[in-house]
Amino acid sequence: MSRIHDALKRAEQERATSMGGHVETTLVPPELQPISMPTLGQSTVAMPLPVGGFTYEALLARCPQTNWTPDPRTMLFFQDDENRIGAEAFRTLRSRLYQIREKLPLKRLMVTSALPKEGKSFVTANLGQVMVRQQGRRALIIDADLRSPGMHRHLGAPQTPGLSDYLLGECDEFSALQRGPMDNLVFLPAGRVVSSAPELLANGRLKLLLQRVEPMFDWIILDSPPVIPVADSTLLANFCDGVLMVVRSNATPSDLARRAREEFQDKLLLGVVLNGAPSGKLERSKYYYGEAASSHA
Ligand SMILES: Nc1ncnc2c1ncn2[C@@H]1O[C@H](COP(=O)(O)OP(=O)(O)OP(=O)(O)O)[C@@H](O)[C@H]1O
Ligand SMILES: [Mg+2]
Repeated sequence: MSRIHDALKRAEQERATSMGGHVETTLVPPELQPISMPTLGQSTVAMPLPVGGFTYEALLARCPQTNWTPDPRTMLFFQDDENRIGAEAFRTLRSRLYQIREKLPLKRLMVTSALPKEGKSFVTANLGQVMVRQQGRRALIIDADLRSPGMHRHLGAPQTPGLSDYLLGECDEFSALQRGPMDNLVFLPAGRVVSSAPELLANGRLKLLLQRVEPMFDWIILDSPPVIPVADSTLLANFCDGVLMVVRSNATPSDLARRAREEFQDKLLLGVVLNGAPSGKLERSKYYYGEAASSHA
């Protein structure tokens, strides 16, 4: 209980120190321990099932192989350097999620945060990559931020066709999904920007899509819009087994983190990722999480 509380409090205290004040946090902590991410470098009509069924083999055969140019500064697992700063924190996050999955059904995760620019897409993208680094594991990353999509920029992948186009009934699943350079990592980009995101997300087709792709993947990770400005994340959480909350170190005000957390009262909050930990704390957090990971492996 106290670890999540401590992490949020620490983030708030860092902020309070720089502002010369102190703010109490009273977040209800979930099971997962906080993970510190270091700062790096400077209509409901269903489409018919495709002939041959909806299998991973059919997906490999039919969904386009696209050219990705992942951002080398923040996409940690596309190169062969296993020891990049931040990579270990994602391995730790992976093992924590597997620990939770031993006790609870967990495949569809939503990554969210209180505000924009806190690192939701950064965390989603790297989590998807670290999942498929384990042999035979498959992951699907979905950019479900239909208003201000950003995942395609992190991956250097095409933005369209994607989820919005699929939800509008303008393309099928196979044309919206993309295979990139990493085996077993599949991406569903957001598609073209739409203003009717809540209506589209609730039109029944996202539910159908998730049901169809679920058997093919070990993990389905949804990148979402920030919680405070818009209601989409609350809606999206209904399609997921659990929610991962990103808190940006020295940036997210605790009252807003608390408000965001309250949006998911009746959902499974898996934990908090403390993103952008100051580099001075890096060695400490690496040591701590290195130990924690090995003790649970
Ligand atoms: N730990 C990190 N180290 C270095 N840069 C980071 C880190 N986390 C995020 N960033 C950078 O900060 C910016 C915002 O991150 P990101 O796009 O992941 O945020 P977001 O929460 O998805 O934003 P939005 O709400 O706009 O979708 C990006 O340029 C990203 O590369
Ligand atoms: Mg984003």
